[in-house]
Amino acid sequence: MLHIEPLHPLFAARLSGLDLRQPPDDAVMQAVREAFERFSVLVFPEQAIDDDAQLAFSARLGPLEQTRAGANGAGGHLLVLTNVGPDGQIAPPTDRQVLNNRANRLWHADSSFKPVPARASMLSAREIPGQGGDTEFASMRAAWEAMPGPLRAGLRGRTAVHDFGWSRSRIMPELVTAAERQDWPPVRHPVVLDGPQGEALYLGAHARGIEGMDETEGRALIEEAMAFATQPRFVYAHRWSRHDLVLWDNRAVLHRATPFASSAERRHMVRTTIAGEAPRSAAAA
Ligand code: OGA
Ligand code: MN
Repeated sequence: MLHIEPLHPLFAARLSGLDLRQPPDDAVMQAVREAFERFSVLVFPEQAIDDDAQLAFSARLGPLEQTRAGANGAGGHLLVLTNVGPDGQIAPPTDRQVLNNRANRLWHADSSFKPVPARASMLSAREIPGQGGDTEFASMRAAWEAMPGPLRAGLRGRTAVHDFGWSRSRIMPELVTAAERQDWPPVRHPVVLDGPQGEALYLGAHARGIEGMDETEGRALIEEAMAFATQPRFVYAHRWSRHDLVLWDNRAVLHRATPFASSAERRHMVRTTIAGEAPRSAAAA
């Protein structure tokens, strides 16, 4: 029996009573879709699934995004976030993959630098550290709703430029290759998304600037909005248990990784990503 239990006053819920190693029936899928729209972050505990089962469950939610060149799992539908090397040993802190994982510590929406960003992401905890390595989620619906009028007015109707090369080079300039810059030229997305569940702020780490504003002014506005929207009251911090499977709505939440002892403890996570339609801006008033 499917049981739904809220995890935070504003969003996020735990869905228990399912065994996702077997394909869920249509009634369960319908309940999952409804819970996803309502809660934005769904935690499915005790799902010891393999890659195939994860791919199959994800694909029931929509077409899967291809993993970009340069990422771990490129060309396929899995993205492997791990500090464990191909030899099964913990990779050194200089490892490119380990450095790439650091980029996830900034609040972001997955693939917001793509012309069609990710709608949803599904992350499976295969190995987790004893301490740290939590994932935090911030509700961009709740934050937008609570935002003071003048700040809302400054953001409404605006378009942001999302730029992968820029956001990666903030972590470390050498981290982004010429090929990656060429693959992902800057894209434009509305700052406020309008969906069936209402409006949500859409910014995050790749949002470089605001169209029609100079760089300094645009940065200041983005930073003010981000500081407001990621306050603790809008945040659900997920403390992972092994075999948790977490599904989130990139149109409704931002997320970030938190540190752990990555030279000493293993963390191995597998992500599938459900592609979006291009985000559309709120209808003109
Ligand atoms: C991701 C991500 C954060 C984490 O999978 O998209 O940002 O805690 N993960 O691993
Ligand atoms: Mn992410």
